[in-house]
Amino acid sequence: MDTLNNSSSVSEFILLGLSSSQEIQILFFAIFFHMYVAIIVGNLLIVIAVIFDSHLHSPMYFLLANLSFFDLCFSSVVTPKVIADFLRKRKAISLWGCMTQMFFMHFFGGGEMSLLIAMAIDRYVAICKPLHYKTIMNHRVLTLFLLFSWTIGFIHTTSQMAFTVGLPFCGPNVVDSIFCDLPLVIKLACTETYTLELLVIADSGLLSVFCFILLLISYIIMLVTIWQHSSSASSKAVSTLSAHITVVTLFFGPAIFIYAFPFNSFSVDKFLSVFYSIITPFLNPIIYTLRNQEMKAAIKRLNKQHIGSWLNP
Ligand SMILES: *[C@@H]1O[C@H](CO)[C@@H](O)[C@H](O)[C@H]1NC(C)=O
Repeated sequence: MDTLNNSSSVSEFILLGLSSSQEIQILFFAIFFHMYVAIIVGNLLIVIAVIFDSHLHSPMYFLLANLSFFDLCFSSVVTPKVIADFLRKRKAISLWGCMTQMFFMHFFGGGEMSLLIAMAIDRYVAICKPLHYKTIMNHRVLTLFLLFSWTIGFIHTTSQMAFTVGLPFCGPNVVDSIFCDLPLVIKLACTETYTLELLVIADSGLLSVFCFILLLISYIIMLVTIWQHSSSASSKAVSTLSAHITVVTLFFGPAIFIYAFPFNSFSVDKFLSVFYSIITPFLNPIIYTLRNQEMKAAIKRLNKQHIGSWLNP
């Protein structure tokens, strides 16, 4: 028993990326670069529209803007390095870089998960208790929801990372993905990690499954409520709800696959991690703006008032 061998001898990890072919990597570089620009522009546009357009000053849009903000942070944790790595032959990341990636991924991911729940509660109140909507979803409640999201994100990530940062790594140090993620990195530790694996399955996997089922049930209840009291506003409500359900599925689907069955099927996981780090934040603004007349109108107004005057002062 070597008790002194607690310190890691591995100081960096090597990421394998998506492909070893040079041409394909350049193609991925171009695609991911453009998608990342679209993520920044699309989500920033939503945040700016909601902050500056008084038509959008309602709890639903405040939550949506915060979701866009989470998406921006979430994909910025890994995407810039992933994009730069496509042009590098040797894709290395330091031990601390790797830990930082995982910490912030789960911080913003956990926050986003809580925010999706807050958004569902907001819609639930709007649809099932419409007369009390303004009093229930007041500014204080909204602030509490946001505080709750950041706190849950923090607890979610620290509860896993506290046990991960201390792991000893003594090689191999190859991570078969485009960024560091918990199941892949834990597998590389040269110690017994069974308890930690169970913790990750519970903390990221089962929690995702649980939230996803809860959210689906609540959206089904809302849809049923709308169909029972079909009114003139119902088609708009159905389209809002279907946007929410799509986003929830895009977010939780990959997360459940990666974390609920994490320690055996790695080959699909790296494509799923592309999905939730880049494709979901890319699709969210599209889903919310294309299907939402008010958002579209706000972006048009924004375009006329602000961007127009910046371009031709
Ligand atoms: C988040 O929501 C709050 C409302 O409580 C709002 O004031 C704030 O502007 C939103 N943040 C972003 C980044 O949109």
